[in-house]
Amino acid sequence: MRQLNVELGERSYPIYIGEGLLDEVSSYFVKHGISQKSPLMIITDEKVAPFYLEHLTERLSAGGFKVVSAIVASGEQSKSLANLELLVTKALEGGLDRKSAIVALGGGVVGDLAGFVAASYMRGVKFVQIPTTILAHDSSVGGKVAVNHPLAKNIIGAFHQPEFVLYDLKTLQSLPDREVKAGLSEVVKHGLIWDKEFVDWCIANAGAMVSKQPEALGYALYKGCGVKAQVVSEDEKESSLRAILNLGHTIGHALEAVAGYNELLHGEAISIGMIGSAKLGVRYGASEDLLRVTALALESCGLPTRIPAHYDTDAILAAMMHDKKFSEGTVVFVVPVEIGKVEIKPDVPIQWVREIIEELKQED
Ligand SMILES: NC(=O)c1ccc[n+]([C@@H]2O[C@H](COP(=O)([O-])OP(=O)(O)OC[C@H]3O[C@@H](n4cnc5c(N)ncnc54)[C@H](O)[C@@H]3O)[C@@H](O)[C@H]2O)c1
Ligand SMILES: [Zn+2]
Repeated sequence: MRQLNVELGERSYPIYIGEGLLDEVSSYFVKHGISQKSPLMIITDEKVAPFYLEHLTERLSAGGFKVVSAIVASGEQSKSLANLELLVTKALEGGLDRKSAIVALGGGVVGDLAGFVAASYMRGVKFVQIPTTILAHDSSVGGKVAVNHPLAKNIIGAFHQPEFVLYDLKTLQSLPDREVKAGLSEVVKHGLIWDKEFVDWCIANAGAMVSKQPEALGYALYKGCGVKAQVVSEDEKESSLRAILNLGHTIGHALEAVAGYNELLHGEAISIGMIGSAKLGVRYGASEDLLRVTALALESCGLPTRIPAHYDTDAILAAMMHDKKFSEGTVVFVVPVEIGKVEIKPDVPIQWVREIIEELKQED
């Protein structure tokens, strides 16, 4: 079992990563002072529930906890105000009070939704994250929780840190291959912004990660969570440093929007976005090696590095303008300087971005 801590003063909390942690879940709940008198509510989705909900409920009940559970549909559309209301109804019917805890069992969707329920129910109750996707190594650390509005993603939310994060590597075995690769995109991102050695490790161990070898995944999640935890500790509310976590996301979000949020998974879109950022880095004077190593790391994990040719460049740029503040033909971008180091460039010429998008569509 590996452990690391997110240092946030009195809101600090640990992340536990290991195989079979769900078997001893009760001991973690006891250790962290989760109430055995007040009921707790597990929130999960319809794809995760058949694999792990019964086991988790049984282990917690055996440990003396009163358990209520709620299952939402799988997918981004579940991060809705309608679901918030449904879940609050469930919580009230289940007798949850101020001492109760909300437990997220699932990927980033369940984590963000359950976290927002925890942040708002009775003005905030305890929250525990049990992530079951690789991508959730990113979403379960840092305390950003939210639901979507039909006009904008993650626009109704809060900062609500969990009591602890329990990552049972066994749960990743049922994750579809495409979701594994998409999650690795954020793992590689954490290396690219912070830790060159970890990028080299990712390249050398990509095969082991893609084939879900627990030892490789355990180390990758430990390192990825570690980078995110360090960044978040230094800048919890994103006043400056935390913005570096957006590497690849300016182009990535625009691609997701143009793709209509179903053709490309988030991790796939930001993989392409990180290639775009590396190309920008080279334009600003970084060595060609930056681009080569970035591409190697992402391709080794089976991730896409090119924009599908049928995507319209103007539509991508328009989506970017919608997403970010533009001033006088420039845009704010996270740009790599070398592997493991990035800078925030406040004034990247849009013309450069347009040229890079065109290159990303044409390359073979
Ligand atoms: N809060 C943050 O800081 C933050 C950061 C990054 C992403 N996010 C959010 O995270 C969400 C994406 O997270 P995600 O990629 O984990 O998506 P997800 O939760 O939708 O999970 C992906 C898919 O895998 C299924 N699944 C989950 N675990 C499984 C398992 N163990 N076995 C089989 N199937 C499983 C889910 O049902 C879903 O179909 C987005 O809503 C995004 O906004 C939040
Ligand atoms: Zn992301």
